[in-house]
Amino acid sequence: MKTVEKSISQNVKSAPSKGVKANPDAAQGLRDLFEHELKDIYWAEKALIKALPKMIKNATDTELVAALTKHLEITKEQVSRVEMVFKTIGIKAEAKKCEAMEGLIKEAEEIMESTKLGVVRDAGIISAGQKVEHYEIASYGTLCSMAKILGEQEAASLLNKTLNEEKEADSKLSQVASTINVEAFQEG
Ligand SMILES: [Fe+2]
Repeated sequence: MKTVEKSISQNVKSAPSKGVKANPDAAQGLRDLFEHELKDIYWAEKALIKALPKMIKNATDTELVAALTKHLEITKEQVSRVEMVFKTIGIKAEAKKCEAMEGLIKEAEEIMESTKLGVVRDAGIISAGQKVEHYEIASYGTLCSMAKILGEQEAASLLNKTLNEEKEADSKLSQVASTINVEAFQEG
């Protein structure tokens, strides 16, 4: 047996005894997990509202500034939409710290500090912005799928609307990157 296969088979055999110790307030089922994830994205969106102005201030390309400014406005609407989802499923809107978004925002700041104001920093801001968008796409995709399974059709359609907005923001950034990355390369 190959080493990898051997290791997989050993892990499968020992799987029931493995895993981290669950917290006392651990999710009881998919609905609990869904609510937990919703609180996570609620925190993430609110954190993004605070972080985006700094990214806008540091961007120089007019198209990039416009794309980020538009996304800031959309993000504010998304926060309200998450609040609507909480209402739809009958629970109080509550934010739970999202470690991933905190890290992504920190990384955006690091990228800005490690580049000079100009086209190279613009390219870095796009990179950081797209990482954020991909995290959000993954989160809303999961939430939407869970909502459907839980029979929360209204929540699913609200979440799907935001999912599409995040995908749109991501492709806009890809489009801006196609020119900015070339300019950044030419600058040396
Ligand atoms: Fe968002």
